[in-house]
Amino acid sequence: MSVSCGPVADAQSLQEIEQQYLIQTYRRFPLVVRRGKGCWLYDAAGKRYLDLIAGIGVNALGHAHPRILRVIREQAGLLIHCSNLYYHDYQAPLARRLAEISGLQRCFFSNSGTEAVEGALKIARSYGRRRSPEKYEIVALENSFHGRSFGALSITGQPKYRLDFEPLLPGVRFVPRNDVTALEQAVGPQTAAIVLEWIQGEGGIHPVDVNFARRARELADQHDALLIFDEIQCGLGRTGRYFAYQLAEPPVLPDVTVVAKPLACGLPLGAIIANDKAAAALGPGMHGSTFGGGALACRVALEFLDILPELLPAIHQTGSAFRVQLTEMARHFPFIREVRGFGLMIGIELDLPGKSIVEDALAEGLLINCTSENVIRLLPPYIITDPEVDRAIKILTKVFKKVKYPPDSA
Ligand SMILES: Cc1ncc(COP(=O)(O)O)c(C=O)c1O
Repeated sequence: MSVSCGPVADAQSLQEIEQQYLIQTYRRFPLVVRRGKGCWLYDAAGKRYLDLIAGIGVNALGHAHPRILRVIREQAGLLIHCSNLYYHDYQAPLARRLAEISGLQRCFFSNSGTEAVEGALKIARSYGRRRSPEKYEIVALENSFHGRSFGALSITGQPKYRLDFEPLLPGVRFVPRNDVTALEQAVGPQTAAIVLEWIQGEGGIHPVDVNFARRARELADQHDALLIFDEIQCGLGRTGRYFAYQLAEPPVLPDVTVVAKPLACGLPLGAIIANDKAAAALGPGMHGSTFGGGALACRVALEFLDILPELLPAIHQTGSAFRVQLTEMARHFPFIREVRGFGLMIGIELDLPGKSIVEDALAEGLLINCTSENVIRLLPPYIITDPEVDRAIKILTKVFKKVKYPPDSA
């Protein structure tokens, strides 16, 4: 049988091939994406789609950003990868830059968010073990999402992701978000770390209260445990701040934070950023990665972080204006329970499942996502313009008008 390497134009043919050759973990929408420019994606037939999910928060500078393309082209011709056996020009400056913007001190580079979470858990284990063999527990939040490897799943507080793979890591206690009493009861001398997302993303765009986060900081200090913030979805500019924990005044500083998604604009790169105290728990040979922190990915990340500061005010302003428009729109649709979020991390909670809304939006040329069954999640590129926001509102209005509510009404 001859194998064609050229593009297969239509979604149905691709679906048939994937059904035969892929492990069936993804349920895709019938869209074949061919190229992207700015906030727009184009399918095989040339139809364009306004991309408000941006690779689930990865394409923060949109698609084909000219400065990112320039450094990719230049660096690919010089050096893509050389392993962590040697130095290259970009890992050290990237670590320094992430330390500067986070208020922390040291980095380790991974290839994904999940891997960064894994590394952070290893830091927590080693940190605890150096103090006492019994100090290995992790306190995490219900409804959280931290990834799908064994460690990351073990601290993910959603049974639907965990059940098929249990038993997972021992010693994880879950507490409800913002329940200070439950947190106080769960944390003790046996706790090695408290882990939380400042804004639960996959869990439906739910922020933690600043008071809850401050109490987590106090309890971690009181019991010599680490405070770890997972900023993989809400960090690196998404909320209009470098890190979501900087939204609090004064900021609540973690001992460790983990980032990934937008860091290298679509190339796989994640980072653990730690203070000296936490970083000391990992010594030579205790952790590593073949690909992590490669030259190309690090150079792109440096370019991203060079572009980011000038975008932060716009992320804040455009995000606020977007939420105002959505809230205004929501007044006309009784099935919209709440519009919430920070910066360009927006959730629209519905009184019904969001799946068909996502499908209808796709047909109208708008890419959005539904999480937690009933929360429409928007993670637009940071470069989104006011006319593009208006366009999104127009399409969403049209799609929402088609919704039958109550669902059994004629
Ligand atoms: C908060 C959070 N943590 C961890 C992860 C896992 O990251 P990755 O998919 O890059 O492994 C995600 C992915 O959505 C996330 O949103």
